Amino acid sequence: MGVRKHTLNNLPKGNRGSFSIDPLDSPTLPSRYYTDNDIYQRELTHLHQKTWCYVGHISDVAEPRSYFTDTIAHQPVVVIKGDDAVIRAFFNVCQHRGHELLTGRGKLGKGVSCPYHAWMYNLEGALVRAPHTEELAGFDKSRYSLRTLPIAFAAGLIFVNLDPECEPFEAEMAGFGPSISKQIPDIEQYVAAYRLHYDINANWKTVVDNFSEAYHIPVAHPQLAKVLDQGMDEFQEEYRWSYILYRSRTGFEGLELEQGSPYIAWQAWPHLCMLSLPGSENLIVLRMAPNGVDRCAERVDIYTPEGEGENDKNLIAVKDLFMNMFNQEDIAIVESVQRGISSLGYDQGRYVCDAAESWFSETLLHGFHMQVLEALEE
Ligand code: FES
Ligand SMILES: [Fe+2]
Repeated sequence: MGVRKHTLNNLPKGNRGSFSIDPLDSPTLPSRYYTDNDIYQRELTHLHQKTWCYVGHISDVAEPRSYFTDTIAHQPVVVIKGDDAVIRAFFNVCQHRGHELLTGRGKLGKGVSCPYHAWMYNLEGALVRAPHTEELAGFDKSRYSLRTLPIAFAAGLIFVNLDPECEPFEAEMAGFGPSISKQIPDIEQYVAAYRLHYDINANWKTVVDNFSEAYHIPVAHPQLAKVLDQGMDEFQEEYRWSYILYRSRTGFEGLELEQGSPYIAWQAWPHLCMLSLPGSENLIVLRMAPNGVDRCAERVDIYTPEGEGENDKNLIAVKDLFMNMFNQEDIAIVESVQRGISSLGYDQGRYVCDAAESWFSETLLHGFHMQVLEALEE
């Protein structure tokens, strides 16, 4: 297990009340952290606008001039591959009067033309054309380049940070990329076979919380519990990410499995959750993005070797298992929890943990909440 670097001990005990750094002796986060719009706004500025956020995979911008847009913490961003094969990230905002530049994903010409008044930027973000600006006093195009964003890569996954002063990805997430590549050596050659989107009526943390613990699996996911052997074979917990390898039992009709196939879960701060399910070559990436205090924009990208998505019976079974499991069971759970913690009948519960950090322990959940409190400086 990695060394914990938590600083919570050094902060004054403010809003967090009796929340303790000892998971065996701590109530859960007060429910207002899931319902209070002021806390949500503080999360946006203190947390989401300062952390590395997964946005896609290098195969999403395989060709020079390809691009995709995204929204991170309500901020429009665009990722573009230049003619020099460098992948860059920018705020997707024209520097004239602020129109958004691009939508969706696709292929550009030799630059980006704003749909409002046709200011034109090259693929490196420099303003190269601004019609009818000849008579402007002291107008210097070089001062109106697109705002670039820090970008980082790990095992083919692309991460963007909204904070130009951010901690380097390598410092925050050391070992994360190698951990993925070790289990999925060809991950950089994978492509997205499926992209799913769910609008969930729950705070983003409610959805991440649910991913952070396996305590509920035997109760809430009877089908998954049949596939999953609860004993953890490998477990690594770092400050900003964790990795768990379970083993599968046998499959079921439609999903052929060899007993003992790896079932892997990664989790990374703040809201990246990933699975590699047994039975096919896959990486399922879930991003539980905030979309209002009681709304989560859940994005699911299922990556697999190119050409296998349509034909691999087991991949389709894995996708269906995941969609049915996630869509029907977990979404119902987190929406119910959100209604419950918003009620007058609840404030704080208890983390259920053990010192050995067994499969059922809610230790990662507690660690996630410590990071939330640290980010909010509470
Ligand atoms: S806002 Fe883009 S050209 Fe005017
Ligand atoms: Fe679940």
